[in-house]
Amino acid sequence: MRISQGNTDDITGLARLLCLNTRPEEPAPEAVDAFAAELTTWWSARQDSHLVFVARLARPEILGMAWVALIPRVPRPGATSRLSADIQSVFVLPTQRGHGIGSGLVEAATVRAIELGALHVTVHSGRQAVPVYERLGFASSRQLLQRPPRP
Ligand SMILES: CC(C)(COP(=O)(O)OP(=O)(O)OC[C@H]1O[C@@H](n2cnc3c(N)ncnc32)[C@H](O)[C@@H]1OP(=O)(O)O)[C@@H](O)C(=O)NCCC(=O)NCCS
Repeated sequence: MRISQGNTDDITGLARLLCLNTRPEEPAPEAVDAFAAELTTWWSARQDSHLVFVARLARPEILGMAWVALIPRVPRPGATSRLSADIQSVFVLPTQRGHGIGSGLVEAATVRAIELGALHVTVHSGRQAVPVYERLGFASSRQLLQRPPRP
């Protein structure tokens, strides 16, 4: 397995995985193309804040992805470029799961975020994926609170 940071050459593959992440059936190529155009516009405005890591085996197709959003934090005296990071949209093709690809992607995204100075790396996990994050050192925190949209 090869994990690397994705770039705009990967847009169609990323668009396909993001479509698959919302519905189980293979999306129509036109739907992927239309979404790829939207994703291109969205990402071009966020290249610096949203990084993606992609996994491949021998072939060029992307088998999985993990995004990380870098969030600037309010500065403190002497520390003006503080960052947090949030892991998002982690997805591995169903046929490729259970071989460490998801873990490798999350680890790569987390390590990069920390290298870039992130003080915290968070994730809002799906229920089934919680063990993946726990094995990589993510843990619940009493101090990290969230409020649902309608309390
Ligand atoms: C969660 C996900 C990214 C894991 O990818 P993966 O390549 O299978 O991950 P790994 O091989 O590193 O780890 C496997 C672990 O994933 C978890 N898992 C969750 N759903 C799974 C599935 N459908 N098949 C296999 N493992 C799954 C299990 O805890 C498994 O642990 P185990 O090895 O003890 O059984 C992948 O199942 C997926 O894309 N799920 C749908 C999207 C999702 O839930 N994303 C996370 C939300 S941020």
